[in-house]
Amino acid sequence: MTLILGIESSCDETGIAIYDDVNKKILSESLFSQIDIHQQYGGVMPEIASRHHLKKIVPLLQSCLEQDGILLSDIDIFSYTAGPGLNGALLVGTVFANALAFMFNKPSLPIHHLEGHILSPFLGTVKQIEYPYLVLLVSGGHTQLILVQSVGNYKIVGDTLDDAAGEAFDKTAKMLGFPYPGGVKIAQHALLGKAAYNLPRPMINSDNLDMSFSGLKTSCSLLIRDLCKQYSCASSLDLPIDIINDVAFAVEDAITDTLVNKSLKAVKIYKPTTFVVSGGVSANMKLRTKLDTALSNSKTTTFYPPLQFCTDNGAMIALAGAYRKCFANKSYICHTYPRWNLESLSDFYKQL
Ligand code: KG4
Ligand code: ZN
Repeated sequence: MTLILGIESSCDETGIAIYDDVNKKILSESLFSQIDIHQQYGGVMPEIASRHHLKKIVPLLQSCLEQDGILLSDIDIFSYTAGPGLNGALLVGTVFANALAFMFNKPSLPIHHLEGHILSPFLGTVKQIEYPYLVLLVSGGHTQLILVQSVGNYKIVGDTLDDAAGEAFDKTAKMLGFPYPGGVKIAQHALLGKAAYNLPRPMINSDNLDMSFSGLKTSCSLLIRDLCKQYSCASSLDLPIDIINDVAFAVEDAITDTLVNKSLKAVKIYKPTTFVVSGGVSANMKLRTKLDTALSNSKTTTFYPPLQFCTDNGAMIALAGAYRKCFANKSYICHTYPRWNLESLSDFYKQL
């Protein structure tokens, strides 16, 4: 049995999981989300995130080991998110993984956070995907269309020119008075809303696969200002709930339309047999429904990660560790990569 430990600490989730690489399954996993802690600041506070990773990382590991009666000495490879992300937060997982690996004389293995997201659909029922396949990676920090030639061989064919889709959800949610991160709240309120307002879908008529979401923020803020005037409200918090639901509907509709439009264009260009959607925003049901409808007549099959693995978690890092196991080594160099180009990954592993 080859057991791979995965440690995720790039942002505001501490995640640990153990992957059994022989039976190809996650044996145990534990997660602590700091969302409640950062909500009072309206976003992630890097220093506070690092301190909470420090506080939680040992108890989470203990719980993970106990779930399946595994001993730390049974772990064969210690994989961890080395980037991209918040440097202080990354350092916690990096030092912890390398210290454990050193202690047990086992190899450690740095993992690219986005590679974890890209591979996360394999944590569900999907076991095999034909290459090349196309990925829409939509998270709080990234919105990219990626052509996967093989594991590690990634070509970014579309990118956001400014805000990420998750960031657009979070920023507009803040304007409506929803707590950070607002994506889920927007989705919940949008379910109760209707099509009453039209927000822009920038760049959907451009030929390329790039996207832009920053204009949506401005348009949404102007819409809320006008609505506050119309309903004589001092702030969005005083708007009637029906109006708030309708604005949430407009935001979700605009973001998902843009993502679907660019995804369709990419599928037409690259004609992949498989299209994978991953990252926190891939949990959005409207996005899933629209994509499934839009691609229903194509020859492309769409896969999503299981819902609990859409947002950050240790399981996707342990799984990526399994794909990268041949690069695990005993150099124990604690280096983090807060900004890390996904396309440079194959060169990175060659130099390890
Ligand atoms: O992948 P992730 O956990 O963290 C990053 O690597 O950034 O993604 C977090 C993002 C947040 O912006 C959050 O608002 C968004 O995913 N999100 C959603 C939903 N669930 C999470 N956005 C829209 N609808 C959802 N259901
Ligand atoms: Zn992520």
